[in-house]
Amino acid sequence: MEFSIKPLVPGRNASGCTVVGVYADRKLSEAATILDKASKGYLRRVIDRGDMAGAIGSSLMLHDVPGIASTRVLLLGLGPKAEFTEKQFRRCITTAIEVLARTGSADAELHVTEIAVGRRDIEWRVMQTARAAREATYRFEQMKSTPAKEAPALRRVVLAVAKSDEKRAARGLSQGLALAHGISLARDLGNLPGNVCTPAYLAEQARKLAKHYRLKVQVLERADMEKLGMNTLLSVAAGSSQPPKLIVLEYRAGPKTQKPVVLVGKGVTFDTGGISLKPAPEMDEMKYDMSGAGSVLGTLKAVAEMKLPVNVIGIIPATENMPGGRATKPGDIVTSMSGLTVEILNTDAEGRLILCDALTYAERYDPAAVIDIATLTGACVIALGHVVSGLFANDDPLAREVLAAGEQAGDGAWHLPLHDEYQDQLRSNFADFANIGGRPAGAVTAACFLSRFTKKFKWAHLDVAGTAWKSGKDKGSTGRPVPLLTQFLVNRASKR
Ligand code: BES
Ligand code: MN
Ligand code: ZN
Repeated sequence: MEFSIKPLVPGRNASGCTVVGVYADRKLSEAATILDKASKGYLRRVIDRGDMAGAIGSSLMLHDVPGIASTRVLLLGLGPKAEFTEKQFRRCITTAIEVLARTGSADAELHVTEIAVGRRDIEWRVMQTARAAREATYRFEQMKSTPAKEAPALRRVVLAVAKSDEKRAARGLSQGLALAHGISLARDLGNLPGNVCTPAYLAEQARKLAKHYRLKVQVLERADMEKLGMNTLLSVAAGSSQPPKLIVLEYRAGPKTQKPVVLVGKGVTFDTGGISLKPAPEMDEMKYDMSGAGSVLGTLKAVAEMKLPVNVIGIIPATENMPGGRATKPGDIVTSMSGLTVEILNTDAEGRLILCDALTYAERYDPAAVIDIATLTGACVIALGHVVSGLFANDDPLAREVLAAGEQAGDGAWHLPLHDEYQDQLRSNFADFANIGGRPAGAVTAACFLSRFTKKFKWAHLDVAGTAWKSGKDKGSTGRPVPLLTQFLVNRASKR
């Protein structure tokens, strides 16, 4: 699907469909008013019949409207005018594209991007439109022998904007498409099954990305990790026949002297739990346990495509977590790269074990900030559900910056506590500390574990266990938190 930007008068162009909004209580938007006049009150009459009340998420397709050059007119419910904010904006774009994709229209003009949304400017509105449209038409069909559905006829979408907004809208469009490409990469990687998306596959994808965007890439093998003393990472890989990889990508388009932002993504390509084996129901969803890694690759793709003037390093510890004759056993004690010893009381708390060595490895980049992204705990899903990601940080300004980026991108997070008192739950009789802290506050104690390896830099941790994918009928990766991370970096780039 192609997008373009044009100053268009609604009703004058021979397009496949003209899309205009209707507010709750049957109030016409500006574009709808113009169409209504051109059609001598046709829209008003249809609306007054009660077929379109303007509820958010609703739509009504009209054909051959008199006086209108396009073959169709799509009325789009916007909800109450006073409540038309970011969420409603994205929602109605999604509705529009979903409806359009089911019709025979090859092209459409959208008169929604023009509508004011709180304090958000035209750049934001176009960016979100392009992104929401691409997200709505995402399909994952690479594992089907034949595509399940016929491709929609919709080829071209024109976003109507005021003439004076054209330039900023163009920038929003290219940013929105870059973001959509990053989200789409993260979703593909998440949706691929564990027998395809292995640590080696992730490394291969990183190499491809590096080649395409001229990033520096480095893949550490088992022997390299042994030399570095990454024994907690290696302890997770011990039961698997798939070799672990530590993937490092460097994107440096910012000033040479500027310290980089380091993104660390959990890349467990399948989490069986190891010897502390998980129960069978829904275990297939543990193919999504590399979503943190996918979000790092997706964000780097978006940022590189935007050519953002920032320095970003991506670090991905990638491994499977399997039971087996060589697997780590509950009670085993290993020495992490940092020198701290860990008693592994539960082999299913493996995410923290691979992240801690990756966090120690991040020290060598002298980071401005480190953000790790992980499908870390079921406890975080219990605490926050599937709406927001859990955020922890050792620096309040950094936490606020991450939260704001999430708000702006419609990819929210919620700040959870890291009080010292929780650290006691990790006490061990035999090693420096244990890898689990009991049932209470499981998401917090997981973050406490990581905090012991992040003393040397500003650090934020996103637990995306509840937000990275959907279960049930709509099972599939969401691509979160690529929007949050990308917005964070866009904001950092524009601050300079
Ligand atoms: N990958 C899981 C976390 C997870 C579970 C995410 C379910 C989404 C849905 C992680 O490795 C894990 O197994 N965590 C354990 C930790 C526990 C053993 C302390 C958990 O949450 O049960
Ligand atoms: Mn686990
Ligand atoms: Zn896991």
